[in-house]
Amino acid sequence: MCGIIGYVGVDEVVPVVLDGLRRLEYRGYDSAGIAVVGAGEIRILRAAGKLRNLEQRAYHEPLHGTTGIGHTRWATHGAPTEANAHPQRDVSGAVAVVHNGILENYSDLRAELIEAGVDLTSDTDTELIAQLIGREKGPLPERVRAILPRLHGQYAVVAVFKDEPDVVVAFRQGPPLVIGIGEDEAIVASDVVALLHRTREVLFLDDNEIAVVRRDGIELLDSAGDHVERSTETLDWDAGRVEKGGYRHFMLKEIFEQPDAIRNTVVSHLDAARSGVILDGLGFDPEKMDKIRRVHLVACGTSWHASLVGKFLIEKLCGLPTDVDYASEYRYRSPLLRDDTLVIGVTQSGETADTLAAMSLAKSQGSLLGTVCNVRGSSAWREADATILTQAGPEIGVASTKAFTTQLVAMLLLALALRKHGGGADELDTELVHQLQTLPVAIEKTLSMERATFRRATEMLSGAPNSLFLGRGILYPIALEGALKLKEISYLHAEGYPAGEMKHGPIALLQDGFPVVSLALNTATREKLLGNLMEVRARGASVIAVAEADSKAVDEIADLVLPVPHVHPLLQPIVAVVPLQLLAYNVAVELGLDVDQPRNLAKSVTVE
Ligand code: G6P
Repeated sequence: MCGIIGYVGVDEVVPVVLDGLRRLEYRGYDSAGIAVVGAGEIRILRAAGKLRNLEQRAYHEPLHGTTGIGHTRWATHGAPTEANAHPQRDVSGAVAVVHNGILENYSDLRAELIEAGVDLTSDTDTELIAQLIGREKGPLPERVRAILPRLHGQYAVVAVFKDEPDVVVAFRQGPPLVIGIGEDEAIVASDVVALLHRTREVLFLDDNEIAVVRRDGIELLDSAGDHVERSTETLDWDAGRVEKGGYRHFMLKEIFEQPDAIRNTVVSHLDAARSGVILDGLGFDPEKMDKIRRVHLVACGTSWHASLVGKFLIEKLCGLPTDVDYASEYRYRSPLLRDDTLVIGVTQSGETADTLAAMSLAKSQGSLLGTVCNVRGSSAWREADATILTQAGPEIGVASTKAFTTQLVAMLLLALALRKHGGGADELDTELVHQLQTLPVAIEKTLSMERATFRRATEMLSGAPNSLFLGRGILYPIALEGALKLKEISYLHAEGYPAGEMKHGPIALLQDGFPVVSLALNTATREKLLGNLMEVRARGASVIAVAEADSKAVDEIADLVLPVPHVHPLLQPIVAVVPLQLLAYNVAVELGLDVDQPRNLAKSVTVE
């Protein structure tokens, strides 16, 4: 939700900031802007719409300097106009800020500033931050520190100052900020993907800290103004992974990266003989694990779908009652938390505001807190007692793909580890660990599916305003995920449903040519699902089925089969989702839509 960046160094700042914004554009693309400090003033360029509009302005109206900030916006307060774009500055032009978050006391602060005679120029909460800082006097960190008690809500802010041309100041409460330390330069950004190509030495800013960033060093202060000592971390992500690498879209590249992402996730959690799962060293304290009697999985979006699969796996393999909650519901519904409850926040980014709030609620009630997370150093990673790190690498496409399949792998690893800890491991575990290692090959086979098959499926879906995705059991969450993928990037309405529930409502939608996508893999309930599909056919609707290539019974019912290889039933969700990702991708491309940056969405929802 909004990408922010700040740079102080020796290079011309505009290309550096624009490059960083390009890498952060997945976080919002309603407007963009840049501010440069130099020649005794702060100059600002802003443009509504996508970053390319700002790039054009920057080409025609060049700005020069070596200190600056930039922003790509996902609108909250105020329409996505140029006036509401960031950076915002105070009336005197002494300070300019970029901001990610929401000020909850916006109305009060706004009324107070208007009352004080300040001429506000935008509808944003961000401008209020600039105006408040601009009214402060004194040395630099103090001007910022003085206003922090006035800000209620969530914010990550980077600011530049007319009278301090070699400094950017960053502070946060909620949304993430990372500072990269390079040679003779420093970059502050909302996400490491914006700075990986310049440095891998980073420092994650904590809540209520203020960083005074200069090209030769960083001064960290806490909210009392005292110095904080923290050493930097070295990231292990490779900068090449945030490029498209010859693919037309990040989403397609990330779909094709799944075999490697899965392989890396599996290998990093196996013992030396690669015959069992180990979670040693990940923070899972054996004594606390002994106590576990129940599991809560909390997440949003695609990660919530992975959690639904996790419930099946944990209940089946470990016999532990498992609840799955939307984090936004959990945090407000007084969940029954005890010290025998393992709460796992499932989050690709590790920065989703609702998931973080649900996690901190669990921690405050004494539950053992874990996370399945893709980003080392993220807020979830730092909050949790224990982490299963998925090894998907940076995911840039807004529609999650490789993060999802690696989350499914992590769920199975977690279930196997809990089972082993409880002394229940047997030959099934050995079989599953073996299958996990051959899974990348199965995914590769799915990825090499005939293009013609997709062409037909794409035609069937892209002409239909509505579609239904059906699954049962462990494949029901995959029906939800398949429908979500289609909705997110093609803007066609799709609903995921448990096939057995179809008769209780959705069947009323069916008519000639209505597409029904079904997960018809070989499971204990396949016969029942095939019965549901007969009912679909009887109403003239068309059936696209994801099924093993040699499933005669499915061939006879379906208009089209998207084939997947045979795998153990507990691994079926991982292979079954891949054709649905490709299907959604192909439909969106066919409709000429912006696959990587679908309208109104943001990859990282860092506000509630
Ligand atoms: C947004 C993204 C989804 C993602 C969800 C949760 O809605 O568009 O792709 O699943 O946030 O994100 P997280 O990073 O917590 O998994």
